[in-house]
Amino acid sequence: MWEYSEKVLEHYRNPRNVGKIDDADIIGEAGSLACGDSLKLYIKLDGNVIKDAKFQTFGCGSAVASSSILTEMIIGKTLDEVKKITNKDIADALGGLPQEKMHCSVMGQEALEDALKKYYKEDGWEEIEFPSGKKESDKVICTCFNVTEGQILEAVKINGLKTVEEVTNYTKAGGACGRCKGAIKNILEEYWNKTSSAEELTPTQKILKINKVIDQQISPQLQKDGGDIELVDVDGNTVKVKLTGMCSGCKNASMTIKSFVESILKDKVDSNLTVEQV
Ligand code: FES
Repeated sequence: MWEYSEKVLEHYRNPRNVGKIDDADIIGEAGSLACGDSLKLYIKLDGNVIKDAKFQTFGCGSAVASSSILTEMIIGKTLDEVKKITNKDIADALGGLPQEKMHCSVMGQEALEDALKKYYKEDGWEEIEFPSGKKESDKVICTCFNVTEGQILEAVKINGLKTVEEVTNYTKAGGACGRCKGAIKNILEEYWNKTSSAEELTPTQKILKINKVIDQQISPQLQKDGGDIELVDVDGNTVKVKLTGMCSGCKNASMTIKSFVESILKDKVDSNLTVEQV
């Protein structure tokens, strides 16, 4: 049996702002009945301030509590302020949710984003960045629940998720046929490998690693075409290099080589690195 906070139970028993707003300015939707949960969020505006918000949901007690607290969190705030609300903010406002129910807080965040996206689109904005990372152009990883790579990555980043099971708890991805579990595992591995390698390196370790990658992976490639590369300095995330031999003569070639060196260093050492030719 799951442990619920007093606040979750209180919002479940006495949900605030239930119902619909007939003349709502924007309506956000998330989830679907086929997936077992759905939420409709109605918003009434006064200029760019949310004057009123109501919700209708089909779902468990956590979905009711998440939707209820979300309406309280957004009433009286500007659109710019609520744009920053994450699922973690919703769960924190409820005094926490059981891991298995975190997707209810994600559904609240997604309904809010859906509403804002519709509003900004009408206003002529093409695409805005939201904390959930959902974009129309994003690759769908879990077709059962229509969860994208960007959504999984943002849930991983915001909530520090480490396992496929945790991702399923937060996003529902992987919770039906399970076909997407391998792809979710790859996303997790790639994210945490990059993060830990970037976080754990001291400045000296970073220089040593850059030198090693240049010596073992970049230099041999350039030598095949009669060129070479020397590491001159590392200043923060800027790697200063000198191209020698055939590589130094042609401006176009040196631009291509710079991109080549940069992409390998980003991949093998730290994604924040840039390369400067001196
Ligand atoms: S594709 Fe993700 S659970 Fe089916």
